[in-house]
Amino acid sequence: MHTIKTPFDSCLEVILTAHSKELEIAAAQKLAQIYEQLLKQIVKDERYQDTNPTHVDGGVALSSRHALDCLEDPLRTVRFIAGLYYALKDTLASIKQRPLQILYAGCGPGAPLLLPFLHEFDPDEIEVTLLDLNPTSLQSAKQLVDHLGLDAYIRVYELTDAVTYVHPKDLGLHLVVSETMDKGLTREPQVRITQNLAQQLHPKGLFIPEAISIFAEHTFYGKEPYYDIYKKLQDLPPLYDTADREHLFTIDKTVHNAAPYSFESEPRKVPEDYSLTPDVAVFAEVQIYKERELKKAESLLSNSVCILSLNNVHSATYTLKHTTKGTPEWKLIEN
Ligand SMILES: C[S@@+](CC[C@H](N)C(=O)[O-])C[C@H]1O[C@@H](n2cnc3c(N)ncnc32)[C@H](O)[C@@H]1O
Repeated sequence: MHTIKTPFDSCLEVILTAHSKELEIAAAQKLAQIYEQLLKQIVKDERYQDTNPTHVDGGVALSSRHALDCLEDPLRTVRFIAGLYYALKDTLASIKQRPLQILYAGCGPGAPLLLPFLHEFDPDEIEVTLLDLNPTSLQSAKQLVDHLGLDAYIRVYELTDAVTYVHPKDLGLHLVVSETMDKGLTREPQVRITQNLAQQLHPKGLFIPEAISIFAEHTFYGKEPYYDIYKKLQDLPPLYDTADREHLFTIDKTVHNAAPYSFESEPRKVPEDYSLTPDVAVFAEVQIYKERELKKAESLLSNSVCILSLNNVHSATYTLKHTTKGTPEWKLIEN
């Protein structure tokens, strides 16, 4: 039976059970405050305040400070924590091997998607690999784990690139979590990390998020709701009435591993009258685990990305191309 108490206990139950956005947002705000206080108290040289990102093939790894700021993306944070918690319970039930191997790829300075509930599990049943490319993040995460008395759960701290990391085969890999994405699968390396790690998963293993679906549409971009951490999610305008929405592709644990992933759409028609929807945009919807999802504009991850105004397209059709080589990005090609 676990006996560890952590400062997260004051908001954990709400995070795991909340069924309204208001409760989720309040719990996320509390968690972000707890993290700021804890890190300030524990990491004396404040290395987690570092603001230098790292550029590698496949996408940008956020600086420690910017990774920590992701806590201010409330529905993302709460739904990932709860999704991962229930995914771990389900994996413990479906795979008999012990200890189960959990990999947190891109843990940032606080490993916030896992640490708040880790002590609810038996340390003999699970072993965690905390991985990040950023030394100041990994060092802060280790100091935090030690301070919270959670070191019995951690197998190793890996300072490495999750796009190329190979997990020891003899241990198996049963549950992976990686939240390394920006809107519309641009900039950050979520896809390349998924390509590398999903192929190493146990056949019954889970990858969190379970699925990321990308949609294209015509819209009035300036009228779209757009969340950022300086806005209140509750104050965003309603969804704009867009046109010609089309599902382009979905990334999940079955993604092929022929890196780098790329995608090219079928030709899309330029509408005759596009006065109400003059912009070409894409957005992602994220299925974190089972019913826990991020719908359009509920999070930094599911904001829309404007690719180009139709006023600048001179052909009758166009193609959308996504590449994950270098830094992930979208291009519109006139046909
Ligand atoms: C969006 S932040 C999320 C931080 C934290 N897990 C959270 O959910 O609040 C992404 C983290 O992944 C790390 N990261 C990004 N690309 C990486 C890569 N290729 N290899 C290892 N870590 C990476 C970044 O350094 C950063 O700490």
